[in-house]
Amino acid sequence: MANSQFDTTVAAYELSMAEMPFREHIEAHSLLKAVGDLQGLSVLDLGCRSGLYARRLRTAGAAQVIGVDESEAMIDHARQREEQEKLGIRYVAGNAAEPIPGMDGQFDVVTAVYVLPYAPTKDVLEGMCATARRALRPDGGRFVAATLNPNFATDPQWYRRYGVQLTASEPRGEGSRGHLSAWVGQEVLEVDFFCWSAAAHERALHLAGFDRVSWIRPEVSDEGTKLHGSALWRNYLANPHVLILDSMAGPYPGSGTAN
Ligand SMILES: C[S@@+](CC[C@H](N)C(=O)[O-])C[C@H]1O[C@@H](n2cnc3c(N)ncnc32)[C@H](O)[C@@H]1O
Repeated sequence: MANSQFDTTVAAYELSMAEMPFREHIEAHSLLKAVGDLQGLSVLDLGCRSGLYARRLRTAGAAQVIGVDESEAMIDHARQREEQEKLGIRYVAGNAAEPIPGMDGQFDVVTAVYVLPYAPTKDVLEGMCATARRALRPDGGRFVAATLNPNFATDPQWYRRYGVQLTASEPRGEGSRGHLSAWVGQEVLEVDFFCWSAAAHERALHLAGFDRVSWIRPEVSDEGTKLHGSALWRNYLANPHVLILDSMAGPYPGSGTAN
């Protein structure tokens, strides 16, 4: 599999949840809230990187978690950590935009955190959504993604106090390029991403067979407010760079399962 811009910086990325309070208190809080009760459920985490969310989903109660990432280096890291922690998570190297052998029809929930913005083309965006739909059980389920707010602020100061800066070529078109810098401890992580409108996301999801698609604005956890005060979060929440995209699919046509 090709080298990826995500092959390095594992240690810094793993630290980012602790070092960047918005990740824990806004992003993870909002994603896990949207996902809801996972007890007994089977979850596929697309674009799992070194397993940050796969582990969170498992410890939040999911009975089974499989993480998929196209970066074999990241899957190796995730497996090494699994060796130590033995959470029972399986990690598979694969392209989320294409059918992944053995994954279809197995899961109650599919997640993808910061993965859709790395689709370089509309076909890849649609492929990722199609993979999520196919992975769900024949009687349906949910795909919960944390993705870039199509209207994120490019004012360099907007997210700077949260450790993030976004730039994008303007005007933003479908698939136009953007760049994210993230300050984690002493390191700066730099990644390129692609801008997709709300309509492009919704089209890809509807084409894949998701019939109910909603955008959820993130919120701050009570703990985040208690620890950091509400003033810190005001700017971020006024125009967050992450939104939760919650998509539901009913039974496959012809699966014989009632709604
Ligand atoms: C920003 S990281 C997000 C990691 C993790 N979900 C998290 O939030 O901590 C994006 C990940 O998506 C993966 N990725 C991007 N495109 C992919 C694709 N087509 N198939 C599988 N993984 C992909 C990258 O390799 C990378 O590990």
